[in-house]
Amino acid sequence: MTHFSGQVTLDGPSGTGKSSVARAVALELGAAYLDTGAMYRAATVAVLDAGVDLDDAEGITRAVTRAAIGIGTDAATERVTVDGAEVTERIRSTEVTRAVSPVSAVPAVRRLLVDAQRALVADATAVVVEGRDIGTVVLPDATLKVYLTAAPEARAERRAAQLGVTDPARIAAIAEDLRRRDAYDSTRADSPLRPATDAVTVDSTHWERHETIAAIVELARERAEA
Ligand code: DC
Repeated sequence: MTHFSGQVTLDGPSGTGKSSVARAVALELGAAYLDTGAMYRAATVAVLDAGVDLDDAEGITRAVTRAAIGIGTDAATERVTVDGAEVTERIRSTEVTRAVSPVSAVPAVRRLLVDAQRALVADATAVVVEGRDIGTVVLPDATLKVYLTAAPEARAERRAAQLGVTDPARIAAIAEDLRRRDAYDSTRADSPLRPATDAVTVDSTHWERHETIAAIVELARERAEA
């Protein structure tokens, strides 16, 4: 089998299982992996710790500029640091998840992180990069661009299963929250969430995780051989 070399971008809304799919695709392809959402989350930790108001774009930019965000590109390990302190678990907390949208909407923050993302993958022979604007902004010349989506109800059910939630009213509330975040991320002025014109849309509503992974691995191998 041909060894994959090139760049795969994986963009799409929250709750599609994108991170776990992207990591698994990277492992199968023997590629490096970068979770750019984790970088926006780490930047958010720096903003929260600086005590900056989430309406204060200049204060947010100052806090993120000063922070040293550490992230690896090994698909088998996840470790994120801010100024040397490990924040791997904290970046997934409700506190950070609530604050990350306004932080990631600040254009100067996006410029800083996009530059860092390009530098992190510049030397990789094979890499899978996951986020919202990777195919459209960060790596416009990628080998394969995937836009991974699923119906909000399917995404809510997956999230509920992860959290052990079975109450239909709570599942409906999760679906509503996902719709609100989609609307926020797709309508922000800078780098809104949307598929690149040359992206392949993969709708995983009716698929098991392993089917989604296999489909993307196959697309990547086809593209690399073409
Ligand atoms: O994928 P995630 O849930 O970890 O992303 C966290 C937030 O960061 C989400 O609100 C969207 C934002 N984000 C972004 O604006 N651009 C990216 N490339 C990745 C994430």
